[in-house]
Amino acid sequence: MAQFCARRVLSGVPRFPFHHWFPLTDTHSTHQIDQSTVSRNPNARIFILANQKGGVGKTTTAVNTATILAARGYRVLLIDIDPQGNTTSSLGVDKSNLPGSTYDVLVDEVPIVEAIVLDVRPGLDLLATTATLAAAEVELVSAVNREGRLSRACAVIRPLYDVVLIDSPPSLGLLTVNALTAANAVIVPIQCEFLALEGVSQLITTVDLVKRHLNPTLDVVGILMTMFDGRTRLSTLVVEEVRRHFPDRIFSTIIPRSVRLAEAPSYGQSISEYDSSSKGGDAYDAFVDELIARAALGPPQRRGTSASGSNPSTMPAG
Ligand SMILES: Nc1ncnc2c1ncn2[C@@H]1O[C@H](COP(=O)(O)OP(=O)(O)O)[C@@H](O)[C@H]1O
Ligand SMILES: [Mg+2]
Repeated sequence: MAQFCARRVLSGVPRFPFHHWFPLTDTHSTHQIDQSTVSRNPNARIFILANQKGGVGKTTTAVNTATILAARGYRVLLIDIDPQGNTTSSLGVDKSNLPGSTYDVLVDEVPIVEAIVLDVRPGLDLLATTATLAAAEVELVSAVNREGRLSRACAVIRPLYDVVLIDSPPSLGLLTVNALTAANAVIVPIQCEFLALEGVSQLITTVDLVKRHLNPTLDVVGILMTMFDGRTRLSTLVVEEVRRHFPDRIFSTIIPRSVRLAEAPSYGQSISEYDSSSKGGDAYDAFVDELIARAALGPPQRRGTSASGSNPSTMPAG
């Protein structure tokens, strides 16, 4: 396995120091790597949150799933591939002070390891996005291997993580296709609202096309119902309808509509940091339990935390 030099921490933003997992060639360093962790976990599972509708809970699910998995001891990379950069902002990461971004990796083919922001939370790294990513759809049109750029980048870092989560934009354009090509499994958040299923068949068709031509092992791991409002009959009807269409795919966990979930990003916090005992926090905890079981993720290997519950002591205060 390749060995990498440690990277200096530049202007407050930690770059990706491989010394977490690899022996260092940097003679000044004292870090030693847990080689057993690397060999026991050769490949991260890569999930994409996808739905070409906006406002269905992709970003909320990406951020909260990633932080809960990291708090439980999984090594997690979150990739923001939506030019809006809501995942990056939701975690309180300063977009003006990044070592690199998804744009750099996709368009300029900057090595992904140089662009990742390390330890935005303990155990959670981020490939952040800035608004420049909006140009990538156009700039990549004539590029070689335009659909496979993220996949190629991810191949380098897969041995370093247990889970990679990709938050995708509300479209089925080249950015989403890149994410679908890189991923093992698709999670489809659907809002419990009128016309919830509109566009889902188009998404499934796109997944099938990517599967046939670009990524044969891609699969839909599940459909997550979000923003369920128990006071309305509509929410219940929508869940019943989705269950009728996708009985084997729908997660039994349903994310309720919760003011606390909507407030958390404005403080740059996940729900487990902002209000872990809220019903939204409980729901995302239960969703992570279900995801771990359904995707057969196995126990975390990074720290000795319980796989059956989050470990708030590993989260930053506040
Ligand atoms: N379960 C929820 N309850 C209340 N508000 C939510 C919930 N999930 C998401 N939101 C809010 O709804 C908006 C859209 O959610 P978001 O996750 O950004 O969707 P997407 O990424 O699909 O566009 C955001 O303002 C978010 O804070
Ligand atoms: Mg989003």
